[in-house]
Amino acid sequence: MSEFKRTHVCGDVTEKVQGQEVVVTGWVNNRRDHGGLVFIDLRDRSGLVQVAIDPTQDKSSHEIAEIVRSEFVIAVRGSVEPRPEGTVNPKLKTGKIEIKAKEVSILNPSKTPPFILEEADQVSEDLRLQYRYIDLRRPKMQEALKVRHDFCLATRNYLDEQGFLEVETPILTKSTPEGARDYLVPNRLNAGTFFALPQSPQIMKQLLMVGGTEKYFQISRCFRDEDLRADRQPEFTQIDLEMSFAGQEEVFAVTEGMMQAAVKKSVGVDIKIPFNRMTYVEAMDRFGSDKPDLRFDLELKAITDLVDESDFKVFKSVKESGGLIKGILGTGCAGYSRKQVDDLTKYVGNYGAKGLAWFKVTDSGVDSPIAKFFPEALQQKIVQLFEAKAGDMIFFVADKPNVVNASLSALRNWLGKELKLVDEDKLDFTWIIDFPLFGYNEEEKRVEPEHHAFTAPLDEDLHLLDTDPVKVRSSSYDLVLNGSEVASGSVRIHDQKVQEKIFRTIKLTDQDIKERFGFFVEALKYGAPPHAGVAPGLDRILTILLKRESIRDVIAFPKTASGTCLMTSAPSTVDPKQVEELHLKIQETE
Ligand code: AMO
Ligand code: AMP
Repeated sequence: MSEFKRTHVCGDVTEKVQGQEVVVTGWVNNRRDHGGLVFIDLRDRSGLVQVAIDPTQDKSSHEIAEIVRSEFVIAVRGSVEPRPEGTVNPKLKTGKIEIKAKEVSILNPSKTPPFILEEADQVSEDLRLQYRYIDLRRPKMQEALKVRHDFCLATRNYLDEQGFLEVETPILTKSTPEGARDYLVPNRLNAGTFFALPQSPQIMKQLLMVGGTEKYFQISRCFRDEDLRADRQPEFTQIDLEMSFAGQEEVFAVTEGMMQAAVKKSVGVDIKIPFNRMTYVEAMDRFGSDKPDLRFDLELKAITDLVDESDFKVFKSVKESGGLIKGILGTGCAGYSRKQVDDLTKYVGNYGAKGLAWFKVTDSGVDSPIAKFFPEALQQKIVQLFEAKAGDMIFFVADKPNVVNASLSALRNWLGKELKLVDEDKLDFTWIIDFPLFGYNEEEKRVEPEHHAFTAPLDEDLHLLDTDPVKVRSSSYDLVLNGSEVASGSVRIHDQKVQEKIFRTIKLTDQDIKERFGFFVEALKYGAPPHAGVAPGLDRILTILLKRESIRDVIAFPKTASGTCLMTSAPSTVDPKQVEELHLKIQETE
């Protein structure tokens, strides 16, 4: 057998090379035996090409073709010929031709694969993750890797043109302030001491600004030991950036330009910049969420001011105790059955709502078990407020503001899908600005940073820091894409006095400050420039751009929802000697 040197990748063997002799290599995607004539669809990263092996042409090739099976790695030398009439496959780039084999060689056989690639959508994700190296051979997975690569490449090129330097920051480091649990690395050389893996390069990038770098970026891995959700991974990637002598406007302009370039290069879509902006207060008010899906208009409306005109005790008592009553219009939902409404009540119950009240709007007025508590004129006022027509249904929740907003924004997203209000091809990027600086932690009865402790308060709210900290707005911002938070950032504090004041407001003791951030507070005393930054979450952006169900589908080797790797079985136990060297003792759990 002569030596095989690949001349073409499978996807390039089209009618353009008809009549030529080619050598292709790849995996057997499938093999069909037509009583003598054997067809193999050969696959490499570039696509599929059909190989025809005729026993009357070359006997030894045919013998090999008889034994190859799915996922065998083979090489084929042959001539590119038009497919016989009626057998052209218009779905394939190579569908007009086939390779008539002259020589076939098995480069490596394969065990029977645990699943057929083309049926991967029907097997459990666990099986795909266990055999990720086989799963990755699927065109859909290769597409994700390619789009990810293109996105990163365009990002690097764009930021380079804008004068940014890519700087690596340590992975073995000290706890950072994003608020999740740290992954810790025990230190062999000094018993009882630990490195933390960075939850983000936040502190380091600010120190790079103090260090005169002015424009920094890094496509950086972040590690967070937190409860996983559909859009979270314990290790994930940020496009982390920071700029000196810059504020929100400069950060927005760079992020927008970068997104435009990267989206165009990776998925070929033109997005419009600048992105729209909305304040946090407006987003919560109109959509009940700080990450509203703005591909559709449907808004929540408050009726808190109207309930005094009713006799409905549930709503009135909620109002008296400082709560909110808001509603949302379900266009055409008046026909919903009792069961459908019960199911929706359960659904909003997941977000804490104690009930879901409703008005069905009919030609003869409002139909509802609670209608009797609402005088006719008030019913009409509410119907008009929601611009409801006969056939529609208005849903209401009364509760504490956070419960009302969380449950109705979830219902809004549900209605968006159910009533097909969402344009699935749209990419809606919106900045949410002026977040509150602090949130109130009910359990611990203290304020804590909404973003992180290095976020600057808005100058005009500085005076509220002592008197009413939860009213202080911050210069922090999120970028929302189709209802998902895909970036977060802020203007930072560069004044050490303000920084210390914030630490004190969140009740860090002097000792805490010294131990956790002492080096950082010290750095702010040596001429820290004003600076600001942002960190887009690469995995989330790609999940949306590629319209994938799960964040795992855009990561080569992801972790499961319980934070494990099914392919390597990490995390796993280690040799007791290693544990001893680290000065650790494992406590047995029952
Ligand atoms: P933040 O913690 O908001 O900000 O993170 C920024 C962005 O990273 C993405 N992200 C995640 N993606 C996948 N899995 C996760 N577990 C996960 N956690 C966060 C989100 C989020 O918007 N240092 C600051 C940024 C800054 O201030 O510059 C930070 O890390 O898309
Ligand atoms: P009740 O008076 O408890 O029988 O409730 C009458 C209607 O109001 C039912 O449809 C409940 O689902 C609804 N309801 C009760 N509590 C709330 C609430 N907090 N918000 C919205 N609707 C509620």
